[in-house]
Amino acid sequence: MSDQQNVYPVRDDIAAKAWADKATYQAMYQQSVNEPDTFWAEQAKRIDWVKAPSKIKHTSFDPHNVDIRWFEDGTLNASTNCIDRHLEQRGDQTAIIWEGDDPNDSAHITYRDLHERTCKLANALKELGIGKGDVVTLYMPMIPEAAVAMLACARIGAVHSVVFGGFSPDALAQRVVGANSKLVITADESVRGGKHVPLKDNVDAALTRDGTEICKNVLVVKRTGGEIEWNDGRDVWYADVVDKQSADCPAEEMNAEDPLFILYTSGSTGAPKGLKHTTGGYMVYASLTHQYVFDYQDGEIYWCTADVGWVTGHSYIVYGPLANGGTTLMFEGVPSYPTHGRMGDIVDKHKVNILYTAPTAIRALMAHGDSVMDSSQRDTLRILGSVGEPINPEAWDWFYRVIGNSKCPIVDTWWQTETGGIMIAPLPGATDLKPGSATLPFFGVQPALFDSEGNTLEGAVEGNLVLTDSWPGQARSIWGDHERFTQTYFSTYKGVYFTGDGCRRDEDGYYWITGRVDDVINVSGHRMGTAEIESSLVAHDAVAEAAVVGFPHDIKGQGIYIYVTLNGDVEPTDELKKELTQWVRKDIGPIASPDVIQWAPGLPKTRSGKIMRRILRKIAANECDGLGDTSTLADPGVVDELIENRAVR
Ligand code: PRX
Repeated sequence: MSDQQNVYPVRDDIAAKAWADKATYQAMYQQSVNEPDTFWAEQAKRIDWVKAPSKIKHTSFDPHNVDIRWFEDGTLNASTNCIDRHLEQRGDQTAIIWEGDDPNDSAHITYRDLHERTCKLANALKELGIGKGDVVTLYMPMIPEAAVAMLACARIGAVHSVVFGGFSPDALAQRVVGANSKLVITADESVRGGKHVPLKDNVDAALTRDGTEICKNVLVVKRTGGEIEWNDGRDVWYADVVDKQSADCPAEEMNAEDPLFILYTSGSTGAPKGLKHTTGGYMVYASLTHQYVFDYQDGEIYWCTADVGWVTGHSYIVYGPLANGGTTLMFEGVPSYPTHGRMGDIVDKHKVNILYTAPTAIRALMAHGDSVMDSSQRDTLRILGSVGEPINPEAWDWFYRVIGNSKCPIVDTWWQTETGGIMIAPLPGATDLKPGSATLPFFGVQPALFDSEGNTLEGAVEGNLVLTDSWPGQARSIWGDHERFTQTYFSTYKGVYFTGDGCRRDEDGYYWITGRVDDVINVSGHRMGTAEIESSLVAHDAVAEAAVVGFPHDIKGQGIYIYVTLNGDVEPTDELKKELTQWVRKDIGPIASPDVIQWAPGLPKTRSGKIMRRILRKIAANECDGLGDTSTLADPGVVDELIENRAVR
């Protein structure tokens, strides 16, 4: 079907009360790129500043001097923007609806409650010696304390670094050391799908690793009461230190360019990098995108199913919705527990109006047939959103038809940890939809498509997606390594930010993200560097060499396919495959579980010794006919061997 045939025009009922219709989007977009100072000076007013900024945009993508500053002479505090400024008007409104893993567990936290909880924790953090500029690592379940901890750090000017609760002790240790973190906040256990995950045990294990001595305290929320080890002098129960504090904590006046948080993410090379996000531009951008992309209206119930361990949770569970005085739902569990109807049941239970989720979750539900949604009506839904990976048309259609009862626009939002907020997405009242396309750029976003030589491609064409100018939510650096920041994003093509994604633009100027063009894979919407998994494998005694590629996977989008060359005397057994699988899970975390391991007596390499991943990707995808030119290989014979013994799925 051509792109033209499958268009879902803007619905009149949505456009009638939307923040932006077509003309408004066009006018605002044009101003945002033609007169960025004027546009962003106006938008900055949505945030409460202690001192309003007089300087707006000061940015350079020159690889000799990457320098990104927004609102640089303004001062503010992110937590007062998310809480205090709403107290007068909406102190009794629910800020956070918490839905537990167990369907009988839920809680409503008003803005007033949130204020009290945040101030108490902020005072407790001070008592633990945390102050402005210190880094606090959060390794937490999806419980209200996770949002409270982020806001409490922001309140006193501490920098939070949230580590997804599914990461291993080693991965956690690496991030504690990388960020020089003095405190870890965690819980005894998390609960997902009825199972308990030993978070505190993982923290204990992490803090035995080299370099973690910097971390002086572990603050532990009692979530399950499960048995844990206790390290006197280091471990502190959350309730013991928080409950006794004053419910008043003045907010630290922060400069717009002071760091708000660090968030680690994977790249194509090396260890995960901690992206540095700052305060002013991030808050303006998170709040503006949340309002316009989801067309968030006062009083609506908004649910983003992400984990706070990912950037989506930062911008669209916590900072964006709360800055806008919204009601944000936080879900502890998984969409398949206790039944596959859970997502619909939660929508009905809490009368959710806006549901923002990931294609992998949709595909997992879709696999159970339309009847999985029979237990719910979902008639409160108005807007649906998708993020994390390309959404295939079948999943789009199912989301639209079955979950949304064929009446809710889907905003397919393309963005990245590095971008801080949504970059390419429809606006519900302004953009006609095409399933599978993230559609058009948000205000201030200037995409371009480049060929591999760095020439700009015009018109309907496919190429590498770059962004030619800065936007306020952009990451400013890699924590402690500005050179790596420059190298990673600004050196492939001079003068522009390179996203790492491939993309097609159609005749209407719509953008269609095709996936990563570097050695990053996207498994169930989780971003992973193949190099990280490879270095984990080669640390195993049996392994001489390993190459990791992604392959198309019906539910996960991409699965992890591993080619392993064993050391000479090692027997290739099924037992060893299991052992290597466990090894990677333990080293990185369950999200890095290999889907397929193939023994590879040799790997296809160029004469200079570089692994030809293009060929390995094709074999993993079962596309062995179109392998392209293999004449540059040192030993073309290894390819036939790999094809013959490829894992049949
Ligand atoms: O490849 C793109 C894919 O996810 C990558 C960013 O991953 P991460 O930093 O973990 O952030 C995910 C949530 C913002 C991108 O480089 N991606 C994200 N959203 C989409 C997408 N691919 C296609 N369509 C999307 N809507």
